Amino acid sequence: MATLDLSDYNPPFDLSRAETMPARWYTEPGFLELEAEKIFYKTWQPVGRVEDVMRAGDYFSCEVLDQPLVVTRNIAGDLRAFYNVCPHRAAVVAHGRGNRKSLQCKYHGWTYDLNGRLLRAPEFEGVKNWDAQAVCLQPIAVEAWGPWVFVNLDPAAAPMATIYGDIADEIAAAGFNLSQMRLVERRDYLIECNWKVYVDNYLEGYHLPIAHPGLFKEVDYDQYRVDTYRYYSKQHAPIRELDPGEARDRRYVRSGEGEADALYYWIFPNVMLNVYLDNTSINIIIPVGQDKTLTIFEWYFEAPGTGEGWESMQQIIAFSDEIQQEDIELCEWVQRGLRSKAYETGRFSVLRENGVHHFQSLVREFLTQA
Ligand code: FES
Ligand SMILES: [Fe+2]
Repeated sequence: MATLDLSDYNPPFDLSRAETMPARWYTEPGFLELEAEKIFYKTWQPVGRVEDVMRAGDYFSCEVLDQPLVVTRNIAGDLRAFYNVCPHRAAVVAHGRGNRKSLQCKYHGWTYDLNGRLLRAPEFEGVKNWDAQAVCLQPIAVEAWGPWVFVNLDPAAAPMATIYGDIADEIAAAGFNLSQMRLVERRDYLIECNWKVYVDNYLEGYHLPIAHPGLFKEVDYDQYRVDTYRYYSKQHAPIRELDPGEARDRRYVRSGEGEADALYYWIFPNVMLNVYLDNTSINIIIPVGQDKTLTIFEWYFEAPGTGEGWESMQQIIAFSDEIQQEDIELCEWVQRGLRSKAYETGRFSVLRENGVHHFQSLVREFLTQA
């Protein structure tokens, strides 16, 4: 890996003195390679749904950036995950998803059990210095969390609970039931910007008054705030009190009077969780190039077909789509601006951009880790 100069960014903890991340961190191609290694291969990444690996023998293929992976439910009923690459000559072992007692490489037919161990390698007698017993798909850490399967490519990964534990407790304490949620809708958006531009934008409400006028009308902007924790942050966006006689634009409001407040989490580096009473959405932000980002939006319901949330599901999705289109335009403008010869770095609003400062500090911290 080429060595990158990272000396031009080390933001102080004090936001009022910090500068924003330099433009070249968003535009130079070498950063994505380093971020893959230091960030995406070191953090828990959602790769699929528990629903797809419920029964013994279920499997699905997936990836973390350019790394092909496979998740299985073995015969004993345990969740397992491996690099989806055959130790013979590197073909992919599992394609798509299905249910099998073994996985067979489609190239020369080597077969593996659901614990990754080699069962059969045809016509391989006489090979020296080679131990069939030792051949195995390389395992990786995997955990079920809510309706999702997460993996972590770091062999020294701490369990998910060390980062997601407090979030899980809070969600449960607020009366939401994540593990019962079922996927009902997915939308993918490909955006012409660096992934960090999209995350920066998600982490502040500063742009609400100008960029999201529809949403701004419904939110109590004075109360809007972002609380930061070690590896995640949480946004508070309470709904504005109505003036007497004023009607609510229901498109923008999910919870009715007396319902629990929604919870909005961002978990470093690229997962956003929006938790409402009877539904939850996850946004997964995936870099596909230095200036190309895939954002996957999925909506889950606890009891699809019932309840107030379900009634307004199409409205919820249409509203989210409207906000997303506004955000996409902003992010694409920003990416063009970051390439400008006239821009190097900026400053943060102390009142409104602490979440962005927190994220950018984490990126710097991870990239400079040994
Ligand atoms: S590459 Fe898998 S069997 Fe040859
Ligand atoms: Fe936005």
